[in-house]
Amino acid sequence: MAFIHRVITFGLIPIIALIALQLYSPETFHNARAIFQPYISSSRIRTFDSLPRSETRLFISAVTHWSHFEKIAKVAVALAELGYPITLITGRIFKNEASSLHPNITFYPLLGQDDKLTEEQYATMASLPPEEVALYRSRLVLVDGMSTTHDTLQQVFREFRDQHGNDRPLLSFYDVPVTGHLPILLGAPGIKPDVSFAIGCHPILLDSNDTYPFHIDKRPETGPDARAIHWKAYQDRHQDYFTRELDLAWWAKLREMGAIQDSYGSMLHAASALPDHLMMMGIPEFEWPRTDLRSNIHYFGALKSSAAKTREENLPSLWDDVAKAKREGKKIVAVSQGTVETNFDELLIPTLEALKDRDDVLVVATTVVVEPEDTLGFTVRGNVRATRFVPYELLLPLTDVLVSNGGFGAVMTAMSNGIPVVVAGSGQDKDINKNLVQYTDVGVKLEGKAPGVDKIREGVGKVLDDPMYKKNMGEMRRRLAAYDVGRVFDGVIREAVRGWAAGKGEDVL
Ligand SMILES: *[C@@H]1O[C@H](CO)[C@@H](O)[C@H](O)[C@H]1NC(C)=O
Ligand SMILES: *[C@@H]1O[C@H](CO)[C@@H](O)[C@H](O)[C@H]1NC(C)=O
Repeated sequence: MAFIHRVITFGLIPIIALIALQLYSPETFHNARAIFQPYISSSRIRTFDSLPRSETRLFISAVTHWSHFEKIAKVAVALAELGYPITLITGRIFKNEASSLHPNITFYPLLGQDDKLTEEQYATMASLPPEEVALYRSRLVLVDGMSTTHDTLQQVFREFRDQHGNDRPLLSFYDVPVTGHLPILLGAPGIKPDVSFAIGCHPILLDSNDTYPFHIDKRPETGPDARAIHWKAYQDRHQDYFTRELDLAWWAKLREMGAIQDSYGSMLHAASALPDHLMMMGIPEFEWPRTDLRSNIHYFGALKSSAAKTREENLPSLWDDVAKAKREGKKIVAVSQGTVETNFDELLIPTLEALKDRDDVLVVATTVVVEPEDTLGFTVRGNVRATRFVPYELLLPLTDVLVSNGGFGAVMTAMSNGIPVVVAGSGQDKDINKNLVQYTDVGVKLEGKAPGVDKIREGVGKVLDDPMYKKNMGEMRRRLAAYDVGRVFDGVIREAVRGWAAGKGEDVL
């Protein structure tokens, strides 16, 4: 109604005609409004309904971990290409990458250390017993890191408010593990964004009576007691050591930061539940069916790499070998260990072992975090080609199966190419990803993160022999192709800006 109020106040246009238009033809009304907007904008009262993208700055923060930064950077580029100016906040180790993404993306460094952990913390983590590693890392990044990111964001928000007062909407997007957003959303003192958006590059982590909690490696129950069983599992979630210790540490930190409440939810739920919008990578079809999904969830499909970046990668000998193998009718198997748990003895080396006698297969192994010579001692041997990095956008279209540790990004990249997967791995969101792969029959799930040579051989064989997996993945690919990250984000942003302007309009009048 703000617009109509303005019309009455200024008496610029025939009121009756406009009201009639609004009632009987909202479409025309919108157009009429667009036509009159400039005249009204030039008056004392500003209307923000038409705030151009070039004046709508977006703050986007990414956790300082490559596989996260890489995805969030692609979102930032898609939005910069639409004309939004962007401030991209992450650790200094990604300064060069973040600064060269797009002319209108400005890098803003996180305060404190350059990387998510310091050298000493990496060393300490390496010396811990396996069951303590994930907790140690998560506590430092998600709990202790919360003050640093909170302080950085407050500094950025302060600069923005100093420059624009309340004349521009403060729109903040955060990669879900950037927990520095949460204290302000839970009432800690400071500047709160007008609209906050979480970006989830993993399956939905919200509590739901239709699924088990995040840490449980199980598919949802389907019987009549399913909801009660799931509900009970949420009640009992703090019997899980990792979940309990992480929540206790998080709650203590929130209190310390002034977000004082009687009780707090579990961190994983809160990180996705607190923002105004939740932008989700993927598609609803690659998810558990949920009856309690909120309406502020927006799927944006998969992320595309910019063609320019991909062209830079020049791996002539590998491509020649792959092309030759294809000509000879061989199957191409790609294998990657991922970026968080990088023990090659768990998946990568056993895969090479499992397939070493198959001369109808060429295996392309990517070591990502280290040079292949340093760990495998070779780059070319028998039916294996090893490389540190390969642009998957180029390799996967030539591939028959991807063996991976179940990272969501890897599964999505496979899906955007219609390539079935064999997934092992555990920790982070990997158990959910693996179960979803099994549930949707787009590949084979292997138990644990070190499933062993025989299980890997069997799994790869199954996917290569049974065309069902490829067919199902092809179907997912078609669904995924209907989404466009820029279009989805842009729609949500425009709506958020309109909502903000409407709220402001009331204040002005
Ligand atoms: C960057 O933003 C300015 C101001 O909005 C715009 O004129 C320019 O075209 C943008 N540059 C690119 C490469 O999009
Ligand atoms: C889940 O079930 C419990 C017990 O029936 C109920 O109290 C709770 O509100 C339900 N949660 C949701 C999100 O529906």
